[in-house]
Parts: sequence; C-alpha cells; structure tokens
Amino acid sequence: MKPAPVIRYLDTHKSFKRPVLSGVNLEIHEGEMFALFGPSGTGKSVLLKTTIGLVVPDRGDVEVRGESLYHGARGILDTVRKQVGYVFQYAALFDSMTVYDNVEMGLPEDRLRRMPKTEVARAVWDALELVNLDPREVMSVLPAELSGGMKKRVGIARAIVGRPRILLWDEPTTGLDPVNTAAIERLIRRLSRELRVTSVLVTHDVEGALWMCGRVAMLEGGSIRFCGTPDEFQTEADPVVRAFVDRAAAEAALDVVEMS
Ligand SMILES: Nc1ncnc2c1ncn2[C@@H]1O[C@H](COP(=O)(O)OP(=O)(O)O)[C@@H](O)[C@H]1O
Ligand SMILES: [Mg+2]
Repeated sequence: MKPAPVIRYLDTHKSFKRPVLSGVNLEIHEGEMFALFGPSGTGKSVLLKTTIGLVVPDRGDVEVRGESLYHGARGILDTVRKQVGYVFQYAALFDSMTVYDNVEMGLPEDRLRRMPKTEVARAVWDALELVNLDPREVMSVLPAELSGGMKKRVGIARAIVGRPRILLWDEPTTGLDPVNTAAIERLIRRLSRELRVTSVLVTHDVEGALWMCGRVAMLEGGSIRFCGTPDEFQTEADPVVRAFVDRAAAEAALDVVEMS
C-alpha cells in the first residue's frame, strides 16, 4: 500500500481580485525534496501559505499527514503549524530585533513559554550553527548589519529552530549572486537530509532545483501543469512546459556569463 502523503492539496481554490489557484491537486511524499516552479505571480507563494493557514482557500482543502486543515477538527491548524518550518521570501526578518530574537520567534509560543531560558538559548545556538553561522558573532547583531546571504541563513535558522518535520522554502535564493545561491542550495540539501524533513522548495533557480530534488511540479494558470521527475520535466513535450524549461536554461547560461 502507498504511504499517506505528507501534504495533499485537494482541488485547492483561491481568488483575490482574480482567480489565482483554480483547482490545485498535488501530493508531497514523506521525506522527499520537492520543487515547485512556475512563472512569477502564478500563486506559488499563495499555495505554500495555504499549507499553514496564512491563506485560507475559498474551496477545496489541504491535508497534512491525513488531517484536513479546512474541513477538519478545530485547532488542527495550530497543531500543523508547529510541525512546519516556513522560510519566507526575502528572509522577512524583524529589523528592530537581534538575530537571536529573530530565530527565537521560530519556536511555537506555547513551547517557548514552557522551555527554560537555557534550553531556548541552546536551540537558537544549534539552529545558527546548523546554517553555518557563528552564534557568538551574529547573535546580538541586527539584520541590517548582515549581508544578503547571512540574512537568508538567519531566516532558515528561524524556520528550523523548532525542529519541524516539514520545511517550506519560498524562493530562498532570490536576490543572491550565483556563488551564494549555490551555497544556500547546498545548505537546503544538507538540512533536509540531516533533519529528515519533507521539503517543498519554491524557486526560480530551475537548474539548482533539478539537481537537488527528486520530483518537481509546475504551477501554471491556476493548476498543476506538470508533475514528475527532473528527467521527465526536461524532456516533457507540453509546449508550455518546454517554453518554461528553455527560458530557465537561457537564464542559467546568462548567470554563468555574468560570473565570468
Ligand atoms: N494577500 C493578497 N491579497 C491580494 N492579492 C494577493 C495576495 N497574495 C497574493 N496575491 C496575488 O496573487 C497572485 C499570486 O501571487 P503569488 O503567490 O505571490 O505569486 P508567485 O507565484 O510569484 O509566488 C498575484 O497576482 C498576487 O498579487
Ligand atoms: Mg512568491
């Protein structure tokens, strides 16, 4: 028997002024590293946000480990949120808070209240070390004093400090140069393995994701246009997918030219 999927989007719909998600069906498996592609503005962030209730679908549902988030028991969203680490686009750190306080924010409130101060400090320290930052150096620093790559690492530390079982990565390398992009991608891969999590990675770095992920999907026009292995994706005949793959390859080539 096939194991129950970790995340399941079931005919997920969401409109703002116009329809954004118009029936997304997708399953994410236990322990996999999954990439979600799509042109910008297609609703990738909106879809990730429905996984933790930051966006509530108009219709359809999302299930996490078999639990219905929107048609199930009350309080299920709170329970699910504690299992999910979310790496926000642009790191989204609090400017007036130190790195320490920013990372601490990643611990669920009720756990934070129960944990002794020393245990909190240990968790923050470990999270910073896991993302290759020196806790002594960065702990009391404000985000403004950090480089772009370091800010991303702090955002990742905040997402993993509570040791989630699922990690959602929303464009974790956007705005980074190719060298920093490669470093963050190595980090994503290592963390996903070491922490034994299920990862969903939204990225425009298609080349990087094809190398890292076991399965990939493309969101287009409000639904899943493609879902399969990286090999299948690169040889897919659907002209919409082809155009996307070709454009991604051209952009990657451009990056290499800019570097040299
Ligand atoms: N909170 C919101 N209020 C209104 N419109 C939104 C909101 N969040 C997203 N949108 C719209 O939904 C569409 C998809 O957004 P998004 O998921 O951020 O795209 P992307 O695929 O680039 O991540 C965009 O047109 C965006 O303007
Ligand atoms: Mg987005």
